[in-house]
Amino acid sequence: SRAASPLQEACEPSSYSDDESTDIDWNNIGFGIRPTDYIYITKSSADGIFEQGQLNPYGNIELNPSAGVLNYGQGLFEGTKACRREDGRICLFRPDQNAIRMQVGAERMCMPSPSIDQFIDAVKQTAIANRRWIPPPGKGSLYIRPLLIGSGPILGLAPAPEYTFLVYSSPVGNYFKEGLSPLNFYIEDEFHRATRGGAGGVKSITNYAPVLKALTRAKSRGFSDVIYLDSVHKKYLEEATSCNIFVVKVEERTVPVEELLDGDEVFCTGTAVGIVPVGTITYQGKRVEYKSEGQLVSRELYSTLVGIQSGHIEDKKGWYLKI
Ligand code: COI
Repeated sequence: SRAASPLQEACEPSSYSDDESTDIDWNNIGFGIRPTDYIYITKSSADGIFEQGQLNPYGNIELNPSAGVLNYGQGLFEGTKACRREDGRICLFRPDQNAIRMQVGAERMCMPSPSIDQFIDAVKQTAIANRRWIPPPGKGSLYIRPLLIGSGPILGLAPAPEYTFLVYSSPVGNYFKEGLSPLNFYIEDEFHRATRGGAGGVKSITNYAPVLKALTRAKSRGFSDVIYLDSVHKKYLEEATSCNIFVVKVEERTVPVEELLDGDEVFCTGTAVGIVPVGTITYQGKRVEYKSEGQLVSRELYSTLVGIQSGHIEDKKGWYLKI
């Protein structure tokens, strides 16, 4: 059993109020960082076990200049969302799956990881402590960002001697400035995101900075996002910079780029992005347009997802954890 800190007690759902208002215009939140009230933090002891975490006031964290994460990129992140239902309850989408993915990633990056229960508890505590920042039903969600970093000092290349697991959050609306309108994607054929044997299969922070060059280049040319091709054949779809990509009526398998260009409907999904249709894709100078009347599957999936989140549609799979 855990002894609750005064701060944790103050954050118990029964004593936490929704009345504290925020000055946010919920119709216009977009996807940016907005400091909330609390951040959950715990550190590993020398044997790699994470201590009981604490909620702290949101703010900067202190790191040694030779922290493993700053010098050698030893870090993983996760993303999950807390939503507000019509009945006032707060729900989380399958946080156990994020916990498992963090454990798999930690193994790859030579880091200890929090237990599944510890991870879920940290996410729950963060959502509850920051609940006044959870948008009204249908207006967005509280994006919750768990981070696992090598925070201990290390100079020679080796796993850091200490790790920090922290969880912060920010209220978010639509990820793309286009909102839910169809996106214009660019297929990148110079840079690759993941390589065979690399860390592309886990959510390492090191997978993200290398895509910024292609992303900023594409954005400066008016595209919404970039789709990456595999680095071996340079032909199969991998993913977009911030989300997954789906081509309607194709099974889960490698998809050559020609099939994407031939698809009836294309959409992308992600924790941050949600479900958004793709309107055009440009590859090697050729622009393919997808008919907006064809956005049947993405529209249906989107309304089902939002319906389950707000409580209008029954969650038959038990994917949402009510807290
Ligand atoms: C996700 O939604 O899974 C992400 O990693 C989004 C992040 C790049 C903003």
